[in-house]
Amino acid sequence: MARKIIIDTDPGQDDAVAILLALASPELEVLGITAVAGNVPLPLTAKNARIICEVAGRPETPVFAGCDAPLTRPLVSAEHVHGRTGLDGPELWEPEMALQSQHAVDFIIETLRTEPLGKVTLATLGPLTNIGKAFSQAPDIIPNVAEIVAMGGAYFEVGNITPAAEFNIYVDPEAADIVLKSGVKITIMPLDLTHKALVTKRRNDAFRSLGNRTGTFTAEMTEFFERFDKEKYGSEGAPLHDPTVIAYLLAPELFTGRFINVEVETQSDLTLGMTVADWWGVTDRAPNATFMGDIDADGFFTLLTQRLARLP
Ligand code: RIB
Ligand code: CA
Repeated sequence: MARKIIIDTDPGQDDAVAILLALASPELEVLGITAVAGNVPLPLTAKNARIICEVAGRPETPVFAGCDAPLTRPLVSAEHVHGRTGLDGPELWEPEMALQSQHAVDFIIETLRTEPLGKVTLATLGPLTNIGKAFSQAPDIIPNVAEIVAMGGAYFEVGNITPAAEFNIYVDPEAADIVLKSGVKITIMPLDLTHKALVTKRRNDAFRSLGNRTGTFTAEMTEFFERFDKEKYGSEGAPLHDPTVIAYLLAPELFTGRFINVEVETQSDLTLGMTVADWWGVTDRAPNATFMGDIDADGFFTLLTQRLARLP
C-alpha cells in the first residue's frame, strides 16, 4: 500500500527535484501538491509546480494554489537564490495542466477529514503558511495527520537568510510556531543535514548522463541553483535541501537524528525565525520533534539518481 502524501512547496529548484523524486517513487501516492508563497510569489510557485509535473509526465497530479503571503508578515522571497522565475536554469514554458480551483488550505483540510485517520503525511518544502492556516482554521485535522516531514530550521549550521534563521522558518515563523506546538508528529530536515547533501560536479554529471528529459532538466536547475551556495560558502555544490524530505519517506535508514525540543523565535528582530533546538537536552522543555543531524549522502544521491532515471 503506497504511503499517501501531500507535498506543500514553493518551487524552487530543490523543491522541483523533491517533487520529481516523489513522482518517480511508487511507494508514495501524491494526493496533491499545494503551492505556497516563498522562494518566489505564489503565481510562480503554482506555475512551477505544474511545469515540474509535466516534466515528470504526470499532468494528472492535482496542483492547488495556497497562501500568497505569510500569516502575519509581508512575504520575503529568494529570487537571489532561485532566479526571477524561481526555476531559473532550464528553458521554461506555460504549463498546459490547469490549477485546481479549490484553495490549497481547503484541500488540506478536506483531505485530512476524508482520508482514513492517520494515513496522510504532509511533506513540507517551503514556509509553513498553508499548514499553519489549516491547523488554525480546522484544529480537528491535527490528530488525523500521520506525520509532517519538513525541510526547515537549523541549529549547528545556524541561518542562511539571516545569521540566525533558515529561510522556510524565517518567512513565516508564526506558522512554524503553530506547527511545532500542535502536538503533531514532526520530523525536521534542517540545514545541519541538508548542507551535507551537496550536488558535486560528479553527482550533477550523473543526472545529466541519465539521458532523459528529467536528468537534463535537473542538471540545468542545479547548475543554476548552486552558484549562490558556492559563492557564499565556497561549497562544492548546491545543498539539495528539499529532496531529503522525500528521501526520508523512501529510505529513513539514510538519516540519523534526535527526538528533542525544538521551538522558534517569533518576537526578536535579531533572531526572528531561529529554531532553538535543545540538541544537548539542557532544558526541561518536552521533546516535540525528530531533528535530523546526519545523512548518508552517497546513499541519498544513489537513490535520487536511480529514481530520476525512471521518469521520461
Ligand atoms: O533554506 C532552504 C529552503 O528554502 C529550501 O526549501 C529552499 O527551497 C527554500 O525554500
Ligand atoms: Ca523550498
